[in-house]
Amino acid sequence: MNRDNSIFYNVQPEVRETNTKVAISNHPVPYYLQEMHTLDGMKVTIRLITCNDKNQLREFHAHLSEETRYLRYQYFKGDLTESDLDTFCHVDYFNALGLVAEAEKDGQKNIIGVGRYVRLNDPQIAEMAFVVQDSEQRKGIGTQLLRHLSILAWERGIRYFIGELLRENGRMINILRKSDPEMNQLTEGSGCTITLNVEDAKENTPAAWNASTCFIKPPV
Ligand SMILES: CC(C)(COP(=O)(O)OP(=O)(O)OC[C@H]1O[C@@H](n2cnc3c(N)ncnc32)[C@H](O)[C@@H]1OP(=O)(O)O)[C@@H](O)C(=O)NCCC(=O)NCCS
Repeated sequence: MNRDNSIFYNVQPEVRETNTKVAISNHPVPYYLQEMHTLDGMKVTIRLITCNDKNQLREFHAHLSEETRYLRYQYFKGDLTESDLDTFCHVDYFNALGLVAEAEKDGQKNIIGVGRYVRLNDPQIAEMAFVVQDSEQRKGIGTQLLRHLSILAWERGIRYFIGELLRENGRMINILRKSDPEMNQLTEGSGCTITLNVEDAKENTPAAWNASTCFIKPPV
């Protein structure tokens, strides 16, 4: 397939997740874009993370509240290290994949949310994680990140998402339960492990009320 009619184009062949089941070399970077407006009128773009997002991601993380960081990492996470940024931004889009939600302010695009998965030893299972900027939470962005991560994971053969959450994280648990009411929740101490059916999540997670058509196409 040539670049003009392919759903893939090569940007940065990189493979960093070497301990996963499926080895990929010279992998293509899929182009995936979704636009939505929140009810308060903010235009949000959901796209795949790339290795060019390190600075933006560092900034995004630096401005998260301690509570949000704690809910995401389950410990008091300091600034993202170079190694963290490598892990999050250099992905092979198959065994590890990240989505960012981006919004424009004063002519500049900023990351306001991230969702990612990493395939586990069982190739049908991946661990997922989400985080949304404090000021933009409860606007539907986390739900859309879950929806699109599920669509992309399903296409890549992932059938179950595992989530390690704090028991107190009712908001995330609610979002996941709405997507898969049958999800398994195993509670141990202050934490819980969620197992979510990706097919259900992809089918049941509502699309944004005014999202544009979800499409995969080469960049212009
Ligand atoms: C969990 C998290 C990712 C959810 O993201 P979010 O963007 O706030 O999620 P949503 O807005 O899609 O949904 C949250 C709630 O807002 C509601 N909501 C969605 N759109 C809304 C809107 N336009 N107006 C008001 N409420 C809305 C949803 O119904 C949902 O309600 P519920 O909590 O009663 O179920 C975010 O809160 C976060 O970053 N938390 C800290 C990190 C974390 O916990 N990560 C998960 C562990 S990996």
